[in-house]
Amino acid sequence: MKDQSMAGYLDNAATSYPKPASVYQAVQYALQQVGGSPGRGSHRRAREASAILERVRGKVAGLFGISRTERVLFTKNATESINIVLKGWVRPGDRVVVSGMEHNAVIRPLRMLAQERVAVDIVPCESNGQLDVDALKASLTRPARLMVLAHASNVNGALQPVEEVAGICTDHAVPLLLDAAQTGGIQPIAVERLNLGMLACSGHKALLGPPGVGILYIREDLSVKSLIEGGTGSLSEEELQPEFCPDRYESGTPNLPGIAGLGAGIDFILEQGMSSIRRHELSLAQELETALRELSGIKVYGPGVRGSSSVSFTLEGINPADLGYLLDQGFDIAVRTGLHCAPLAHRTLGTFPEGTVRVSPGFFTQPEEIGQLLSALETLISRRL
Ligand code: ALA
Repeated sequence: MKDQSMAGYLDNAATSYPKPASVYQAVQYALQQVGGSPGRGSHRRAREASAILERVRGKVAGLFGISRTERVLFTKNATESINIVLKGWVRPGDRVVVSGMEHNAVIRPLRMLAQERVAVDIVPCESNGQLDVDALKASLTRPARLMVLAHASNVNGALQPVEEVAGICTDHAVPLLLDAAQTGGIQPIAVERLNLGMLACSGHKALLGPPGVGILYIREDLSVKSLIEGGTGSLSEEELQPEFCPDRYESGTPNLPGIAGLGAGIDFILEQGMSSIRRHELSLAQELETALRELSGIKVYGPGVRGSSSVSFTLEGINPADLGYLLDQGFDIAVRTGLHCAPLAHRTLGTFPEGTVRVSPGFFTQPEEIGQLLSALETLISRRL
């Protein structure tokens, strides 16, 4: 049930809201009833905490087609997952290839790494966000340490041809890091079948968990350095970090309530069926896109292939941030405006530096809420005539 004070929540690409009731219950259960810390101690509460954590690790592995459950690592968010890969795999002097639709979670760490002589090549995308696959093939004729690809854009939902890209990367022996922050939970991702090098995903978007949990997968043959070291509850007599997974990358007390909530989110997705969730969200996005194109002064930045529900648009004569403010203040409608932490993607779409208004329906969004947004926009447009 949605809290009525938050009618018109259309910002699910930032974080999904509301969560299924079972997610809130799982968080509360872990916090209030379990109480212990996983892997720390042999008492009942610590053991139950460990059991929950490993169960959820198994659910994540199952959802993403990963047979070796220990290769699923819990982090605090997709950004941390991406940072672990970039800083632990890329070496001074290496070359990294990325798409022109990447998020700052990728671009900013790479700009830091440029100080260590890491070269970054951006493969262009069309003005609708779709990757130029021929340009990728040309780019990978030169040696590269890594390719990074946002599976779907957080700005306009453009879905990249991951099968094709993964095949090209495999042919060139370049590991592919797939940023699935916007697709994990609504698009099927078969990690091992695609031979992904790494997968980064957030737990609180389409996976429907709470914030504070991210996922990282690292293929077994890729030796990525850890970003932090510390207590793991294992091999405590050793001063050196354990080298086995997941302990190598999971130092410090894990976020058990968050992980428990993520597990409930995955259960919910499996109960509803990922394809029916996807159908619901993408059809709302498609209807919205079509209706927006009919409104005077509105420009929609639609994708070639839609992979998530994000719809980006601008209204002539008004800054996206001001429009978002008016929608919130006047109509109680929550959208995200500006650059969405993805200035590179906005440059590709031609919407830099003002950005866009982004609307992202979620599983709990009702068609009436899309109707309310459209009539709010009609009202605002008519006031300006
Ligand atoms: N990257 C997230 C978004 O697009 C937070 O809103």
